[in-house]
Amino acid sequence: MRHLIDSVDLTIEEIDIIMNRALDIIAHKEMYTDSCHGKTLATLFYEPSTRTRLSFTAAMMELGGNVLGFSDANSSSVSKGESVADTIRVISAFADIVAMRHSKEGAPRIAAEFARVPVINAGDGGNSHPTQTMTDLLTIRRELGHFDNLTIGLCGDLKYGRTVHSLIKAMHRYEGVRFILISPNELKLPSHLKSELAGDCEEAATIEEAMPRLDVLYMTRVQQERFADKDQYERLKDTYILDEEKMKLAKQNMIVMHPLPRVNEITMGVDADPRAAYFRQVENGKFVRMALIYTLLQWRNQVEKNRDDICLTDHICSNIRRCISGAENVPHRAYMDPYGILRCYYCNHRINPE
Ligand code: NCD
Repeated sequence: MRHLIDSVDLTIEEIDIIMNRALDIIAHKEMYTDSCHGKTLATLFYEPSTRTRLSFTAAMMELGGNVLGFSDANSSSVSKGESVADTIRVISAFADIVAMRHSKEGAPRIAAEFARVPVINAGDGGNSHPTQTMTDLLTIRRELGHFDNLTIGLCGDLKYGRTVHSLIKAMHRYEGVRFILISPNELKLPSHLKSELAGDCEEAATIEEAMPRLDVLYMTRVQQERFADKDQYERLKDTYILDEEKMKLAKQNMIVMHPLPRVNEITMGVDADPRAAYFRQVENGKFVRMALIYTLLQWRNQVEKNRDDICLTDHICSNIRRCISGAENVPHRAYMDPYGILRCYYCNHRINPE
């Protein structure tokens, strides 16, 4: 069985298969109206969501399938203390495929281990959000036609913005892709991602400085819900605001993307600019999720590739407050990154050597 927990769980070739399927769905919608007849998607949303949950629901409905689930952990047995492992064992009896969103980083990994059906990570804390990345890739493909040799500006909350983390990992595999990072000091990209990018990224202090070189400007919201210090959020929330003046500095054929919801980081005036792709991006989200559900159900008999680099460790994750390994009784697992740093298998943060 194949799951989608991280944006690099799919090879570049597999991403192409899903993109092509999404494009085929867009071109021949009528051919897919019954393609998941009799199948059920469970949406297990332990954290708030509008777009992602509804786009999964719309996707399954347009494939002729059924949807069940919850959108508030308090209305499920989770509020009685049930573990992710037990919940997923139970849900596996009712559904053919699961989409899970959870505030603890790495929770969908545990779910995938105990599930008897494919699990899709619909966002885990500040860690990753691979289906948003599939949405972003489809948008780039439809708007710009290719992935190679693009310069991508990432602006806003690069620390907690899970969509940015997943997008970087997926896009970095393409030839000649460069990233320009634009964020306040306090919200810089986590070190494991920065080192992965090595020479393929640089930092810019302002949007204006980066703008003329960008093919894509990926704006993000400062992730209020991840801040322990609310004053810090208030101080940082409006650091970067894209407006019509700044758009004048951009190439004619660049695009502005945003996973949404937007707060203040893009003024309404930008919406009418043809380069503002964020509302087209939302629509792509439904098509790509249709393609993903369809394909993962087809791949049910494929075997998940084993990661032979995972080991057990006695040490705890440095991110224990946000990581699922701090919330549930799971074995402490780790892997060695290319720089010799031991990282948590669930959330990718450093393992604390005592
Ligand atoms: C994003 C998320 O949930 O991480 N939203 C989404 O899925 N479209 C971005 C965000 O909440 O800022």
